[in-house]
Amino acid sequence: MAVAASGSFYQDFDLTWGDHRAKIFNGGQLLSLSLDKLSSQGPTHDEIDFEFLGNLSGDPYILHTNVFTQGKGNREQQFYLWFDPTRNFHTYSIIWSQQHIIFLVDNIPIRVFKNGESIGVPFPKSQPMRIYSSLWNADDWATRGGLVKTDWTKAPFTAYYRNFKADACSWSSGTSSCGSRSSSSFSDPAWHTNSLDAPSRRRLRWVQKYFMIYNYCADLKRFPQGFPPECERSRF
Ligand SMILES: *[C@@H]1O[C@H](CO)[C@@H](O)[C@H](O)[C@H]1NC(C)=O
Repeated sequence: MAVAASGSFYQDFDLTWGDHRAKIFNGGQLLSLSLDKLSSQGPTHDEIDFEFLGNLSGDPYILHTNVFTQGKGNREQQFYLWFDPTRNFHTYSIIWSQQHIIFLVDNIPIRVFKNGESIGVPFPKSQPMRIYSSLWNADDWATRGGLVKTDWTKAPFTAYYRNFKADACSWSSGTSSCGSRSSSSFSDPAWHTNSLDAPSRRRLRWVQKYFMIYNYCADLKRFPQGFPPECERSRF
């Protein structure tokens, strides 16, 4: 069975918090609030994060990413964006397959978390995920390490979402069958092999070279005893 949901915020999302602060418009196609986590629940939860760290007007935003498996995270990578994310809508995607988790911005891969079960790194695969969106105050750490404080005279702060899409492939006895919406980057076979194809590797290298500003796998101060095992593997 193939599943492809051209998402409706009415059908696929529950507003669990924030009362009138979350709004759905345009017949379910537009949500105002903020996207951050793809997560399961419980102490051994898995979580895949996109977080946008705020800043003073005109200064760059940081896109913060993390991967938790079996309750353990500490796998941050941060990026400057090559555009101002507050000016226009952009596409932020997560491709989650047996082989890897790929984070994409406007269909450009920015980060790959490979399945490292063979080297003892748990991979999220046994728990159903949900998407969570939220907007929260983190001016104790997220805004230049807490230097920039939220200016509440500018409130309310609003984030908008549109064109939510969820595609899934079912998996049985070694073969998968996928939803076949060709517009979706998910159905691109390039994402479902063990390693990225050459153009994707090139784009990933470009982003990581010019826009990645923090990589836990390069933070010696933090891991003086040696990097986590997944850091020893190739990036793609
Ligand atoms: C905010 O702007 C400053 C100055 O340009 C920059 O150094 C910093 O990385 C930006 N982002 C955050 C979240 O601190």
